[in-house]
Parts: sequence; C-alpha cells; structure tokens
Amino acid sequence: MKTSFKLVALAAIAMSITMGNSVYAGVEAQCKICHDFGTAHKVGPGLKGIMGSKAGTTDYKNYSKSLKQGGWVWDEEHMRKWLTDGKKAIKEFTGDDNAKTTMPPQKLKGDKLDKVIEFLKGLK
Ligand code: HEC
Repeated sequence: MKTSFKLVALAAIAMSITMGNSVYAGVEAQCKICHDFGTAHKVGPGLKGIMGSKAGTTDYKNYSKSLKQGGWVWDEEHMRKWLTDGKKAIKEFTGDDNAKTTMPPQKLKGDKLDKVIEFLKGLK
C-alpha cells in the first residue's frame, strides 16, 4: 500500500516535470529562432536579464532606430504589449506613429503569454 502510494506520487512529480519542460520548449521554439537566452546575439539581441532592463541597451549592433532611442524599461506591462503586438506597441512606447521594429509581431496571449513572461523573468 505504502509503496504504491509512493509510486503514484513519483509518477505525478515526473509528469509535472515533463509537462513543465514541454511548455518551456514551446516558448523556446518561438523565441529561440532569433534569440539567445544568454548574452550572445542571433538575429535579435540576447535576452539574458531582459526583464527590468532598459530597452535597446545590450551591445547588439542591429537595433532599429525606435528601439535604440527607446528609453522605456522592460517591465511586465511593456513586455506583454510587445509580445502581443510589437508593431502597435512600438508606436505606443515611442509616441511616434511611424515607429517600426524589425522584430515580427509574436501575437502571444493568454496562458502562453503568461508562460513566456515567467520564462523571461527567469533569465538572470
Ligand atoms: C523572427 C525573429 C524574432 C523572433 C521569432 C523573436 N524576436 Fe525578439 N527581436 C528580434 C529582433 C530583430 C529584435 C530587435 C528589434 C529592433 O531593434 O527593432 C528583437 C528584440 C526583442 C526584444 C528587445 C530587446 C532589447 O534589448 O531591448 C525583446 C524583449 C524580444 N525581442 C523578445 C522576444 C521574445 C520573448 C520572443 C519569443 C516570444 C521573440 N522576441 C521572438 C527578432 C525576433
């Protein structure tokens, strides 16, 4: 009886780990195409420590004018807008109707968006 209870508990833990990983794998799949989660740069800038940092301030060389001149801080509110519709967000953040970003809109929402935000917070 006791052993089987332990087995069930272990199975539950194993399952939650697997599921957790698969969620993060989903996040990685979408951002990893263009972003390193450390300090290296790919098509886009490395995302290490991105939450709480000032926009456009890594040593990545290819920032758009809008991001470079940005000046906002990547708090949760900005990040949610950025990952829901970056095209619209960049206009709002800069106050410039002609502002553009080279990052394609990610259109994240709901649970997936929450997971990505949590993931980004963990990139320290
Ligand atoms: C197709 C490539 C591509 C994908 C996919 C992509 N990005 Fe980007 N990302 C970029 C580029 C390019 C920039 C630089 C944009 C600019 O300078 O206007 C950027 C910039 C950023 C920035 C601003 C960084 C800074 O230093 O201020 C953040 C934050 C960001 N991306 C997060 C994400 C997240 C999170 C995902 C996944 C949900 C993602 N990106 C998916 C290409 C991409």
